[in-house]
Amino acid sequence: KKSELRKTLNDSLLNINMIETSSFFDIQKTETSRISQVDFTKLDFGRVFSDHMFLMEFEDGAWQRGKIEPYGPFTMSPASMVFHYGQAIFEGMKAYKTGNGEVSLFRPGMNIARFNKSAHRMCMPEVPEDLFMEALAKLVDLDKDWVPSDAESSLYIRPFMIATDSYVGVRASEKYAFSIFMCPVGAYYKGNVRVKVERKYTRATPGGTGYAKAAGNYAGSLYPSKLAREEGYDQLLWTDAIHHEYIEESGTMNAMFVIDGVLVSPATSDTILEGVTRDSVIQLAQDLQIPVEIRRLSITELRSGLESGKVKEAFGVGTAATITPISEIGIDGINYPVAHADSANSIANTLLQELDGIRRGKREDHHGWNIPI
Ligand code: COI
Repeated sequence: KKSELRKTLNDSLLNINMIETSSFFDIQKTETSRISQVDFTKLDFGRVFSDHMFLMEFEDGAWQRGKIEPYGPFTMSPASMVFHYGQAIFEGMKAYKTGNGEVSLFRPGMNIARFNKSAHRMCMPEVPEDLFMEALAKLVDLDKDWVPSDAESSLYIRPFMIATDSYVGVRASEKYAFSIFMCPVGAYYKGNVRVKVERKYTRATPGGTGYAKAAGNYAGSLYPSKLAREEGYDQLLWTDAIHHEYIEESGTMNAMFVIDGVLVSPATSDTILEGVTRDSVIQLAQDLQIPVEIRRLSITELRSGLESGKVKEAFGVGTAATITPISEIGIDGINYPVAHADSANSIANTLLQELDGIRRGKREDHHGWNIPI
């Protein structure tokens, strides 16, 4: 009888605070949604944030109980280790409307696995997969009205982890914050991009952190990218650190080429981020009987292929970028146009239609990639 009373009391307290619970976290809903202030027909990338976020802290060697709460700032000590030694990782994933108002996540398991691979490399604690998945599902479900339905739009999800110990000595932090927030987004690149082959600066070195989605990889890329933008390019095509001759990836995307009818993509290594979109596109190409080669690709081969017309297509693939055609490639000061960048029956466009069709529930999801919420 006593415990029943306590239960009733607890339930009514929970109602007052608008708190629901899950096995790993509490949920505090916003009292005033901001959704009516958003023009869903004019979405930029990454400037508008949905109503709720997830937050969970790691201390004393364990993840503490988390919370879904209204999106907003959090307070941190200036001595938080992330500000000094850059222990920070993130992920990018998307939720789509798949018809009848249903919402699906696209291959979230791949992002969770990559997040934990990044965590391991950056000496950070892993987030248990079931907890990560439950937080994602509940957050997306709470803010499902924020998932846009227009073509090219989706709900971009940004999980991240930072070191929060207040300590100025150099070592791995003992405290961390893991958070997830979300943005309704339009296209990352508005149309084709022009890329410059980078022969001087390096994104990643063997034995380094290039395969991890570590914030510092992006920080290091900003200066060379700025120089390329000053020369009129949108992005870089990174080459390997040792010879500056083998193609790696293109900033926010993995790189793909169509050479003599074959889809060629650089083999991943510890210097290249293994993209979820890259993996999906390779799989779809194989399903469509398009010949695929995953191998080293040199600038010498690329240049002669562009000169002879054997390289018909070049494109970047990524979560934010989806499939973005490359219309021009700058190699050592000479710009080479890419023949089929604007062709409606290009391989890039065929793959985009297929991938987008699956994500939006218009084509059959043979591989079970959509995870309905
Ligand atoms: C993504 O495609 O999700 C990325 O993380 C790339 C970029 C926006 C940083």
